[in-house]
Amino acid sequence: MKIIQGYSDEIYQLGASIQALDHIGSGGKSAIVRAVVDKSTPQELAIKLLDPRCVSADERVQDNRKFSHPNLLSIEKLFNLRYLGFEHIPDWYRRILNCDPNPFESHPIANCTAPSDNLQRVPELINQALGLPPTTDKTLAEFGPDELFVLVMEYCPIPLSQYMKYPGSLNEIPRILTQVCAGLTAMHDAGIIHRDLHIENILLTNEGEAKIADFGSSERWEEPDSRSKARHREDIMSLGLLAFELACGENLLEYDWNDYDETLSERNVPKHFWDICMKAVGYESMFSSAAEFSLALQAQVK
Ligand SMILES: Nc1ncnc2c1ncn2[C@@H]1O[C@H](COP(=O)(O)OP(=O)(O)O)[C@@H](O)[C@H]1O
Ligand SMILES: [Mg+2]
Repeated sequence: MKIIQGYSDEIYQLGASIQALDHIGSGGKSAIVRAVVDKSTPQELAIKLLDPRCVSADERVQDNRKFSHPNLLSIEKLFNLRYLGFEHIPDWYRRILNCDPNPFESHPIANCTAPSDNLQRVPELINQALGLPPTTDKTLAEFGPDELFVLVMEYCPIPLSQYMKYPGSLNEIPRILTQVCAGLTAMHDAGIIHRDLHIENILLTNEGEAKIADFGSSERWEEPDSRSKARHREDIMSLGLLAFELACGENLLEYDWNDYDETLSERNVPKHFWDICMKAVGYESMFSSAAEFSLALQAQVK
């Protein structure tokens, strides 16, 4: 097994050829680890450790949806730990999964990044907040290797939330949104709605290409009828909220409308862009598709 220079000396082996390197993120129902697969040319990957206390079998299927589009994160494979040769859950694996932001438990993987939002992965609290019954009252130690799943996916190094903090990135907004629209359109065309589109679920490659990630809440509809159009709208509204957040740095749902003039002048938000955000969230009319949103954006850029 080759060790790539610059990577951690500590090796956390997942199967014959996958090594976990850093803990790079945590979501409500999972922890994400950067890994490397030892091929003739070693390749970086991201692996999502699904928390068995709160991820149902249906959600596993959703998370594992595969698309072939440059603006949709590509998902490679879903394994369980038994398949990878484990008889028991490894200690480091359990500690990463339990690495809640507060208190932040340290564990042996080289770098550990606290999740950027204030979400704590306490399954009982998440289910309680969603009005759902507890998925399980089992502790992590009580799960066997058949019940612990890891999702292998393409590694996408730059979270949009961090990228947009760079000065000058306001110019980037229409470009990124156009790519997000392209990804969303492909998803909708495949009969799937994302249902959890927000800044933390959009990642960028080193080349600056935006990718929609986290299909864990996505839903397939069977009949392309008028109801499904209404379901699209959930994603288009999220697109509007995202556009607003990128341009104004605020959540539209918590926005103080007295700041309107200031927002437009101080942040240089063009009025036309503002109108697109408002239309996406349905303040007056609404876009009927992500493609229509994208066209409106492009008309503004010209
Ligand atoms: N493929 C990936 N490459 C790099 N970072 C990722 C990748 N997938 C997820 N992340 C990071 O981990 C966080 C949580 O992942 P996500 O799939 O959204 O989990 P959850 O379903 O628990 O919300 C993301 O917000 C992102 O910062
Ligand atoms: Mg997420």
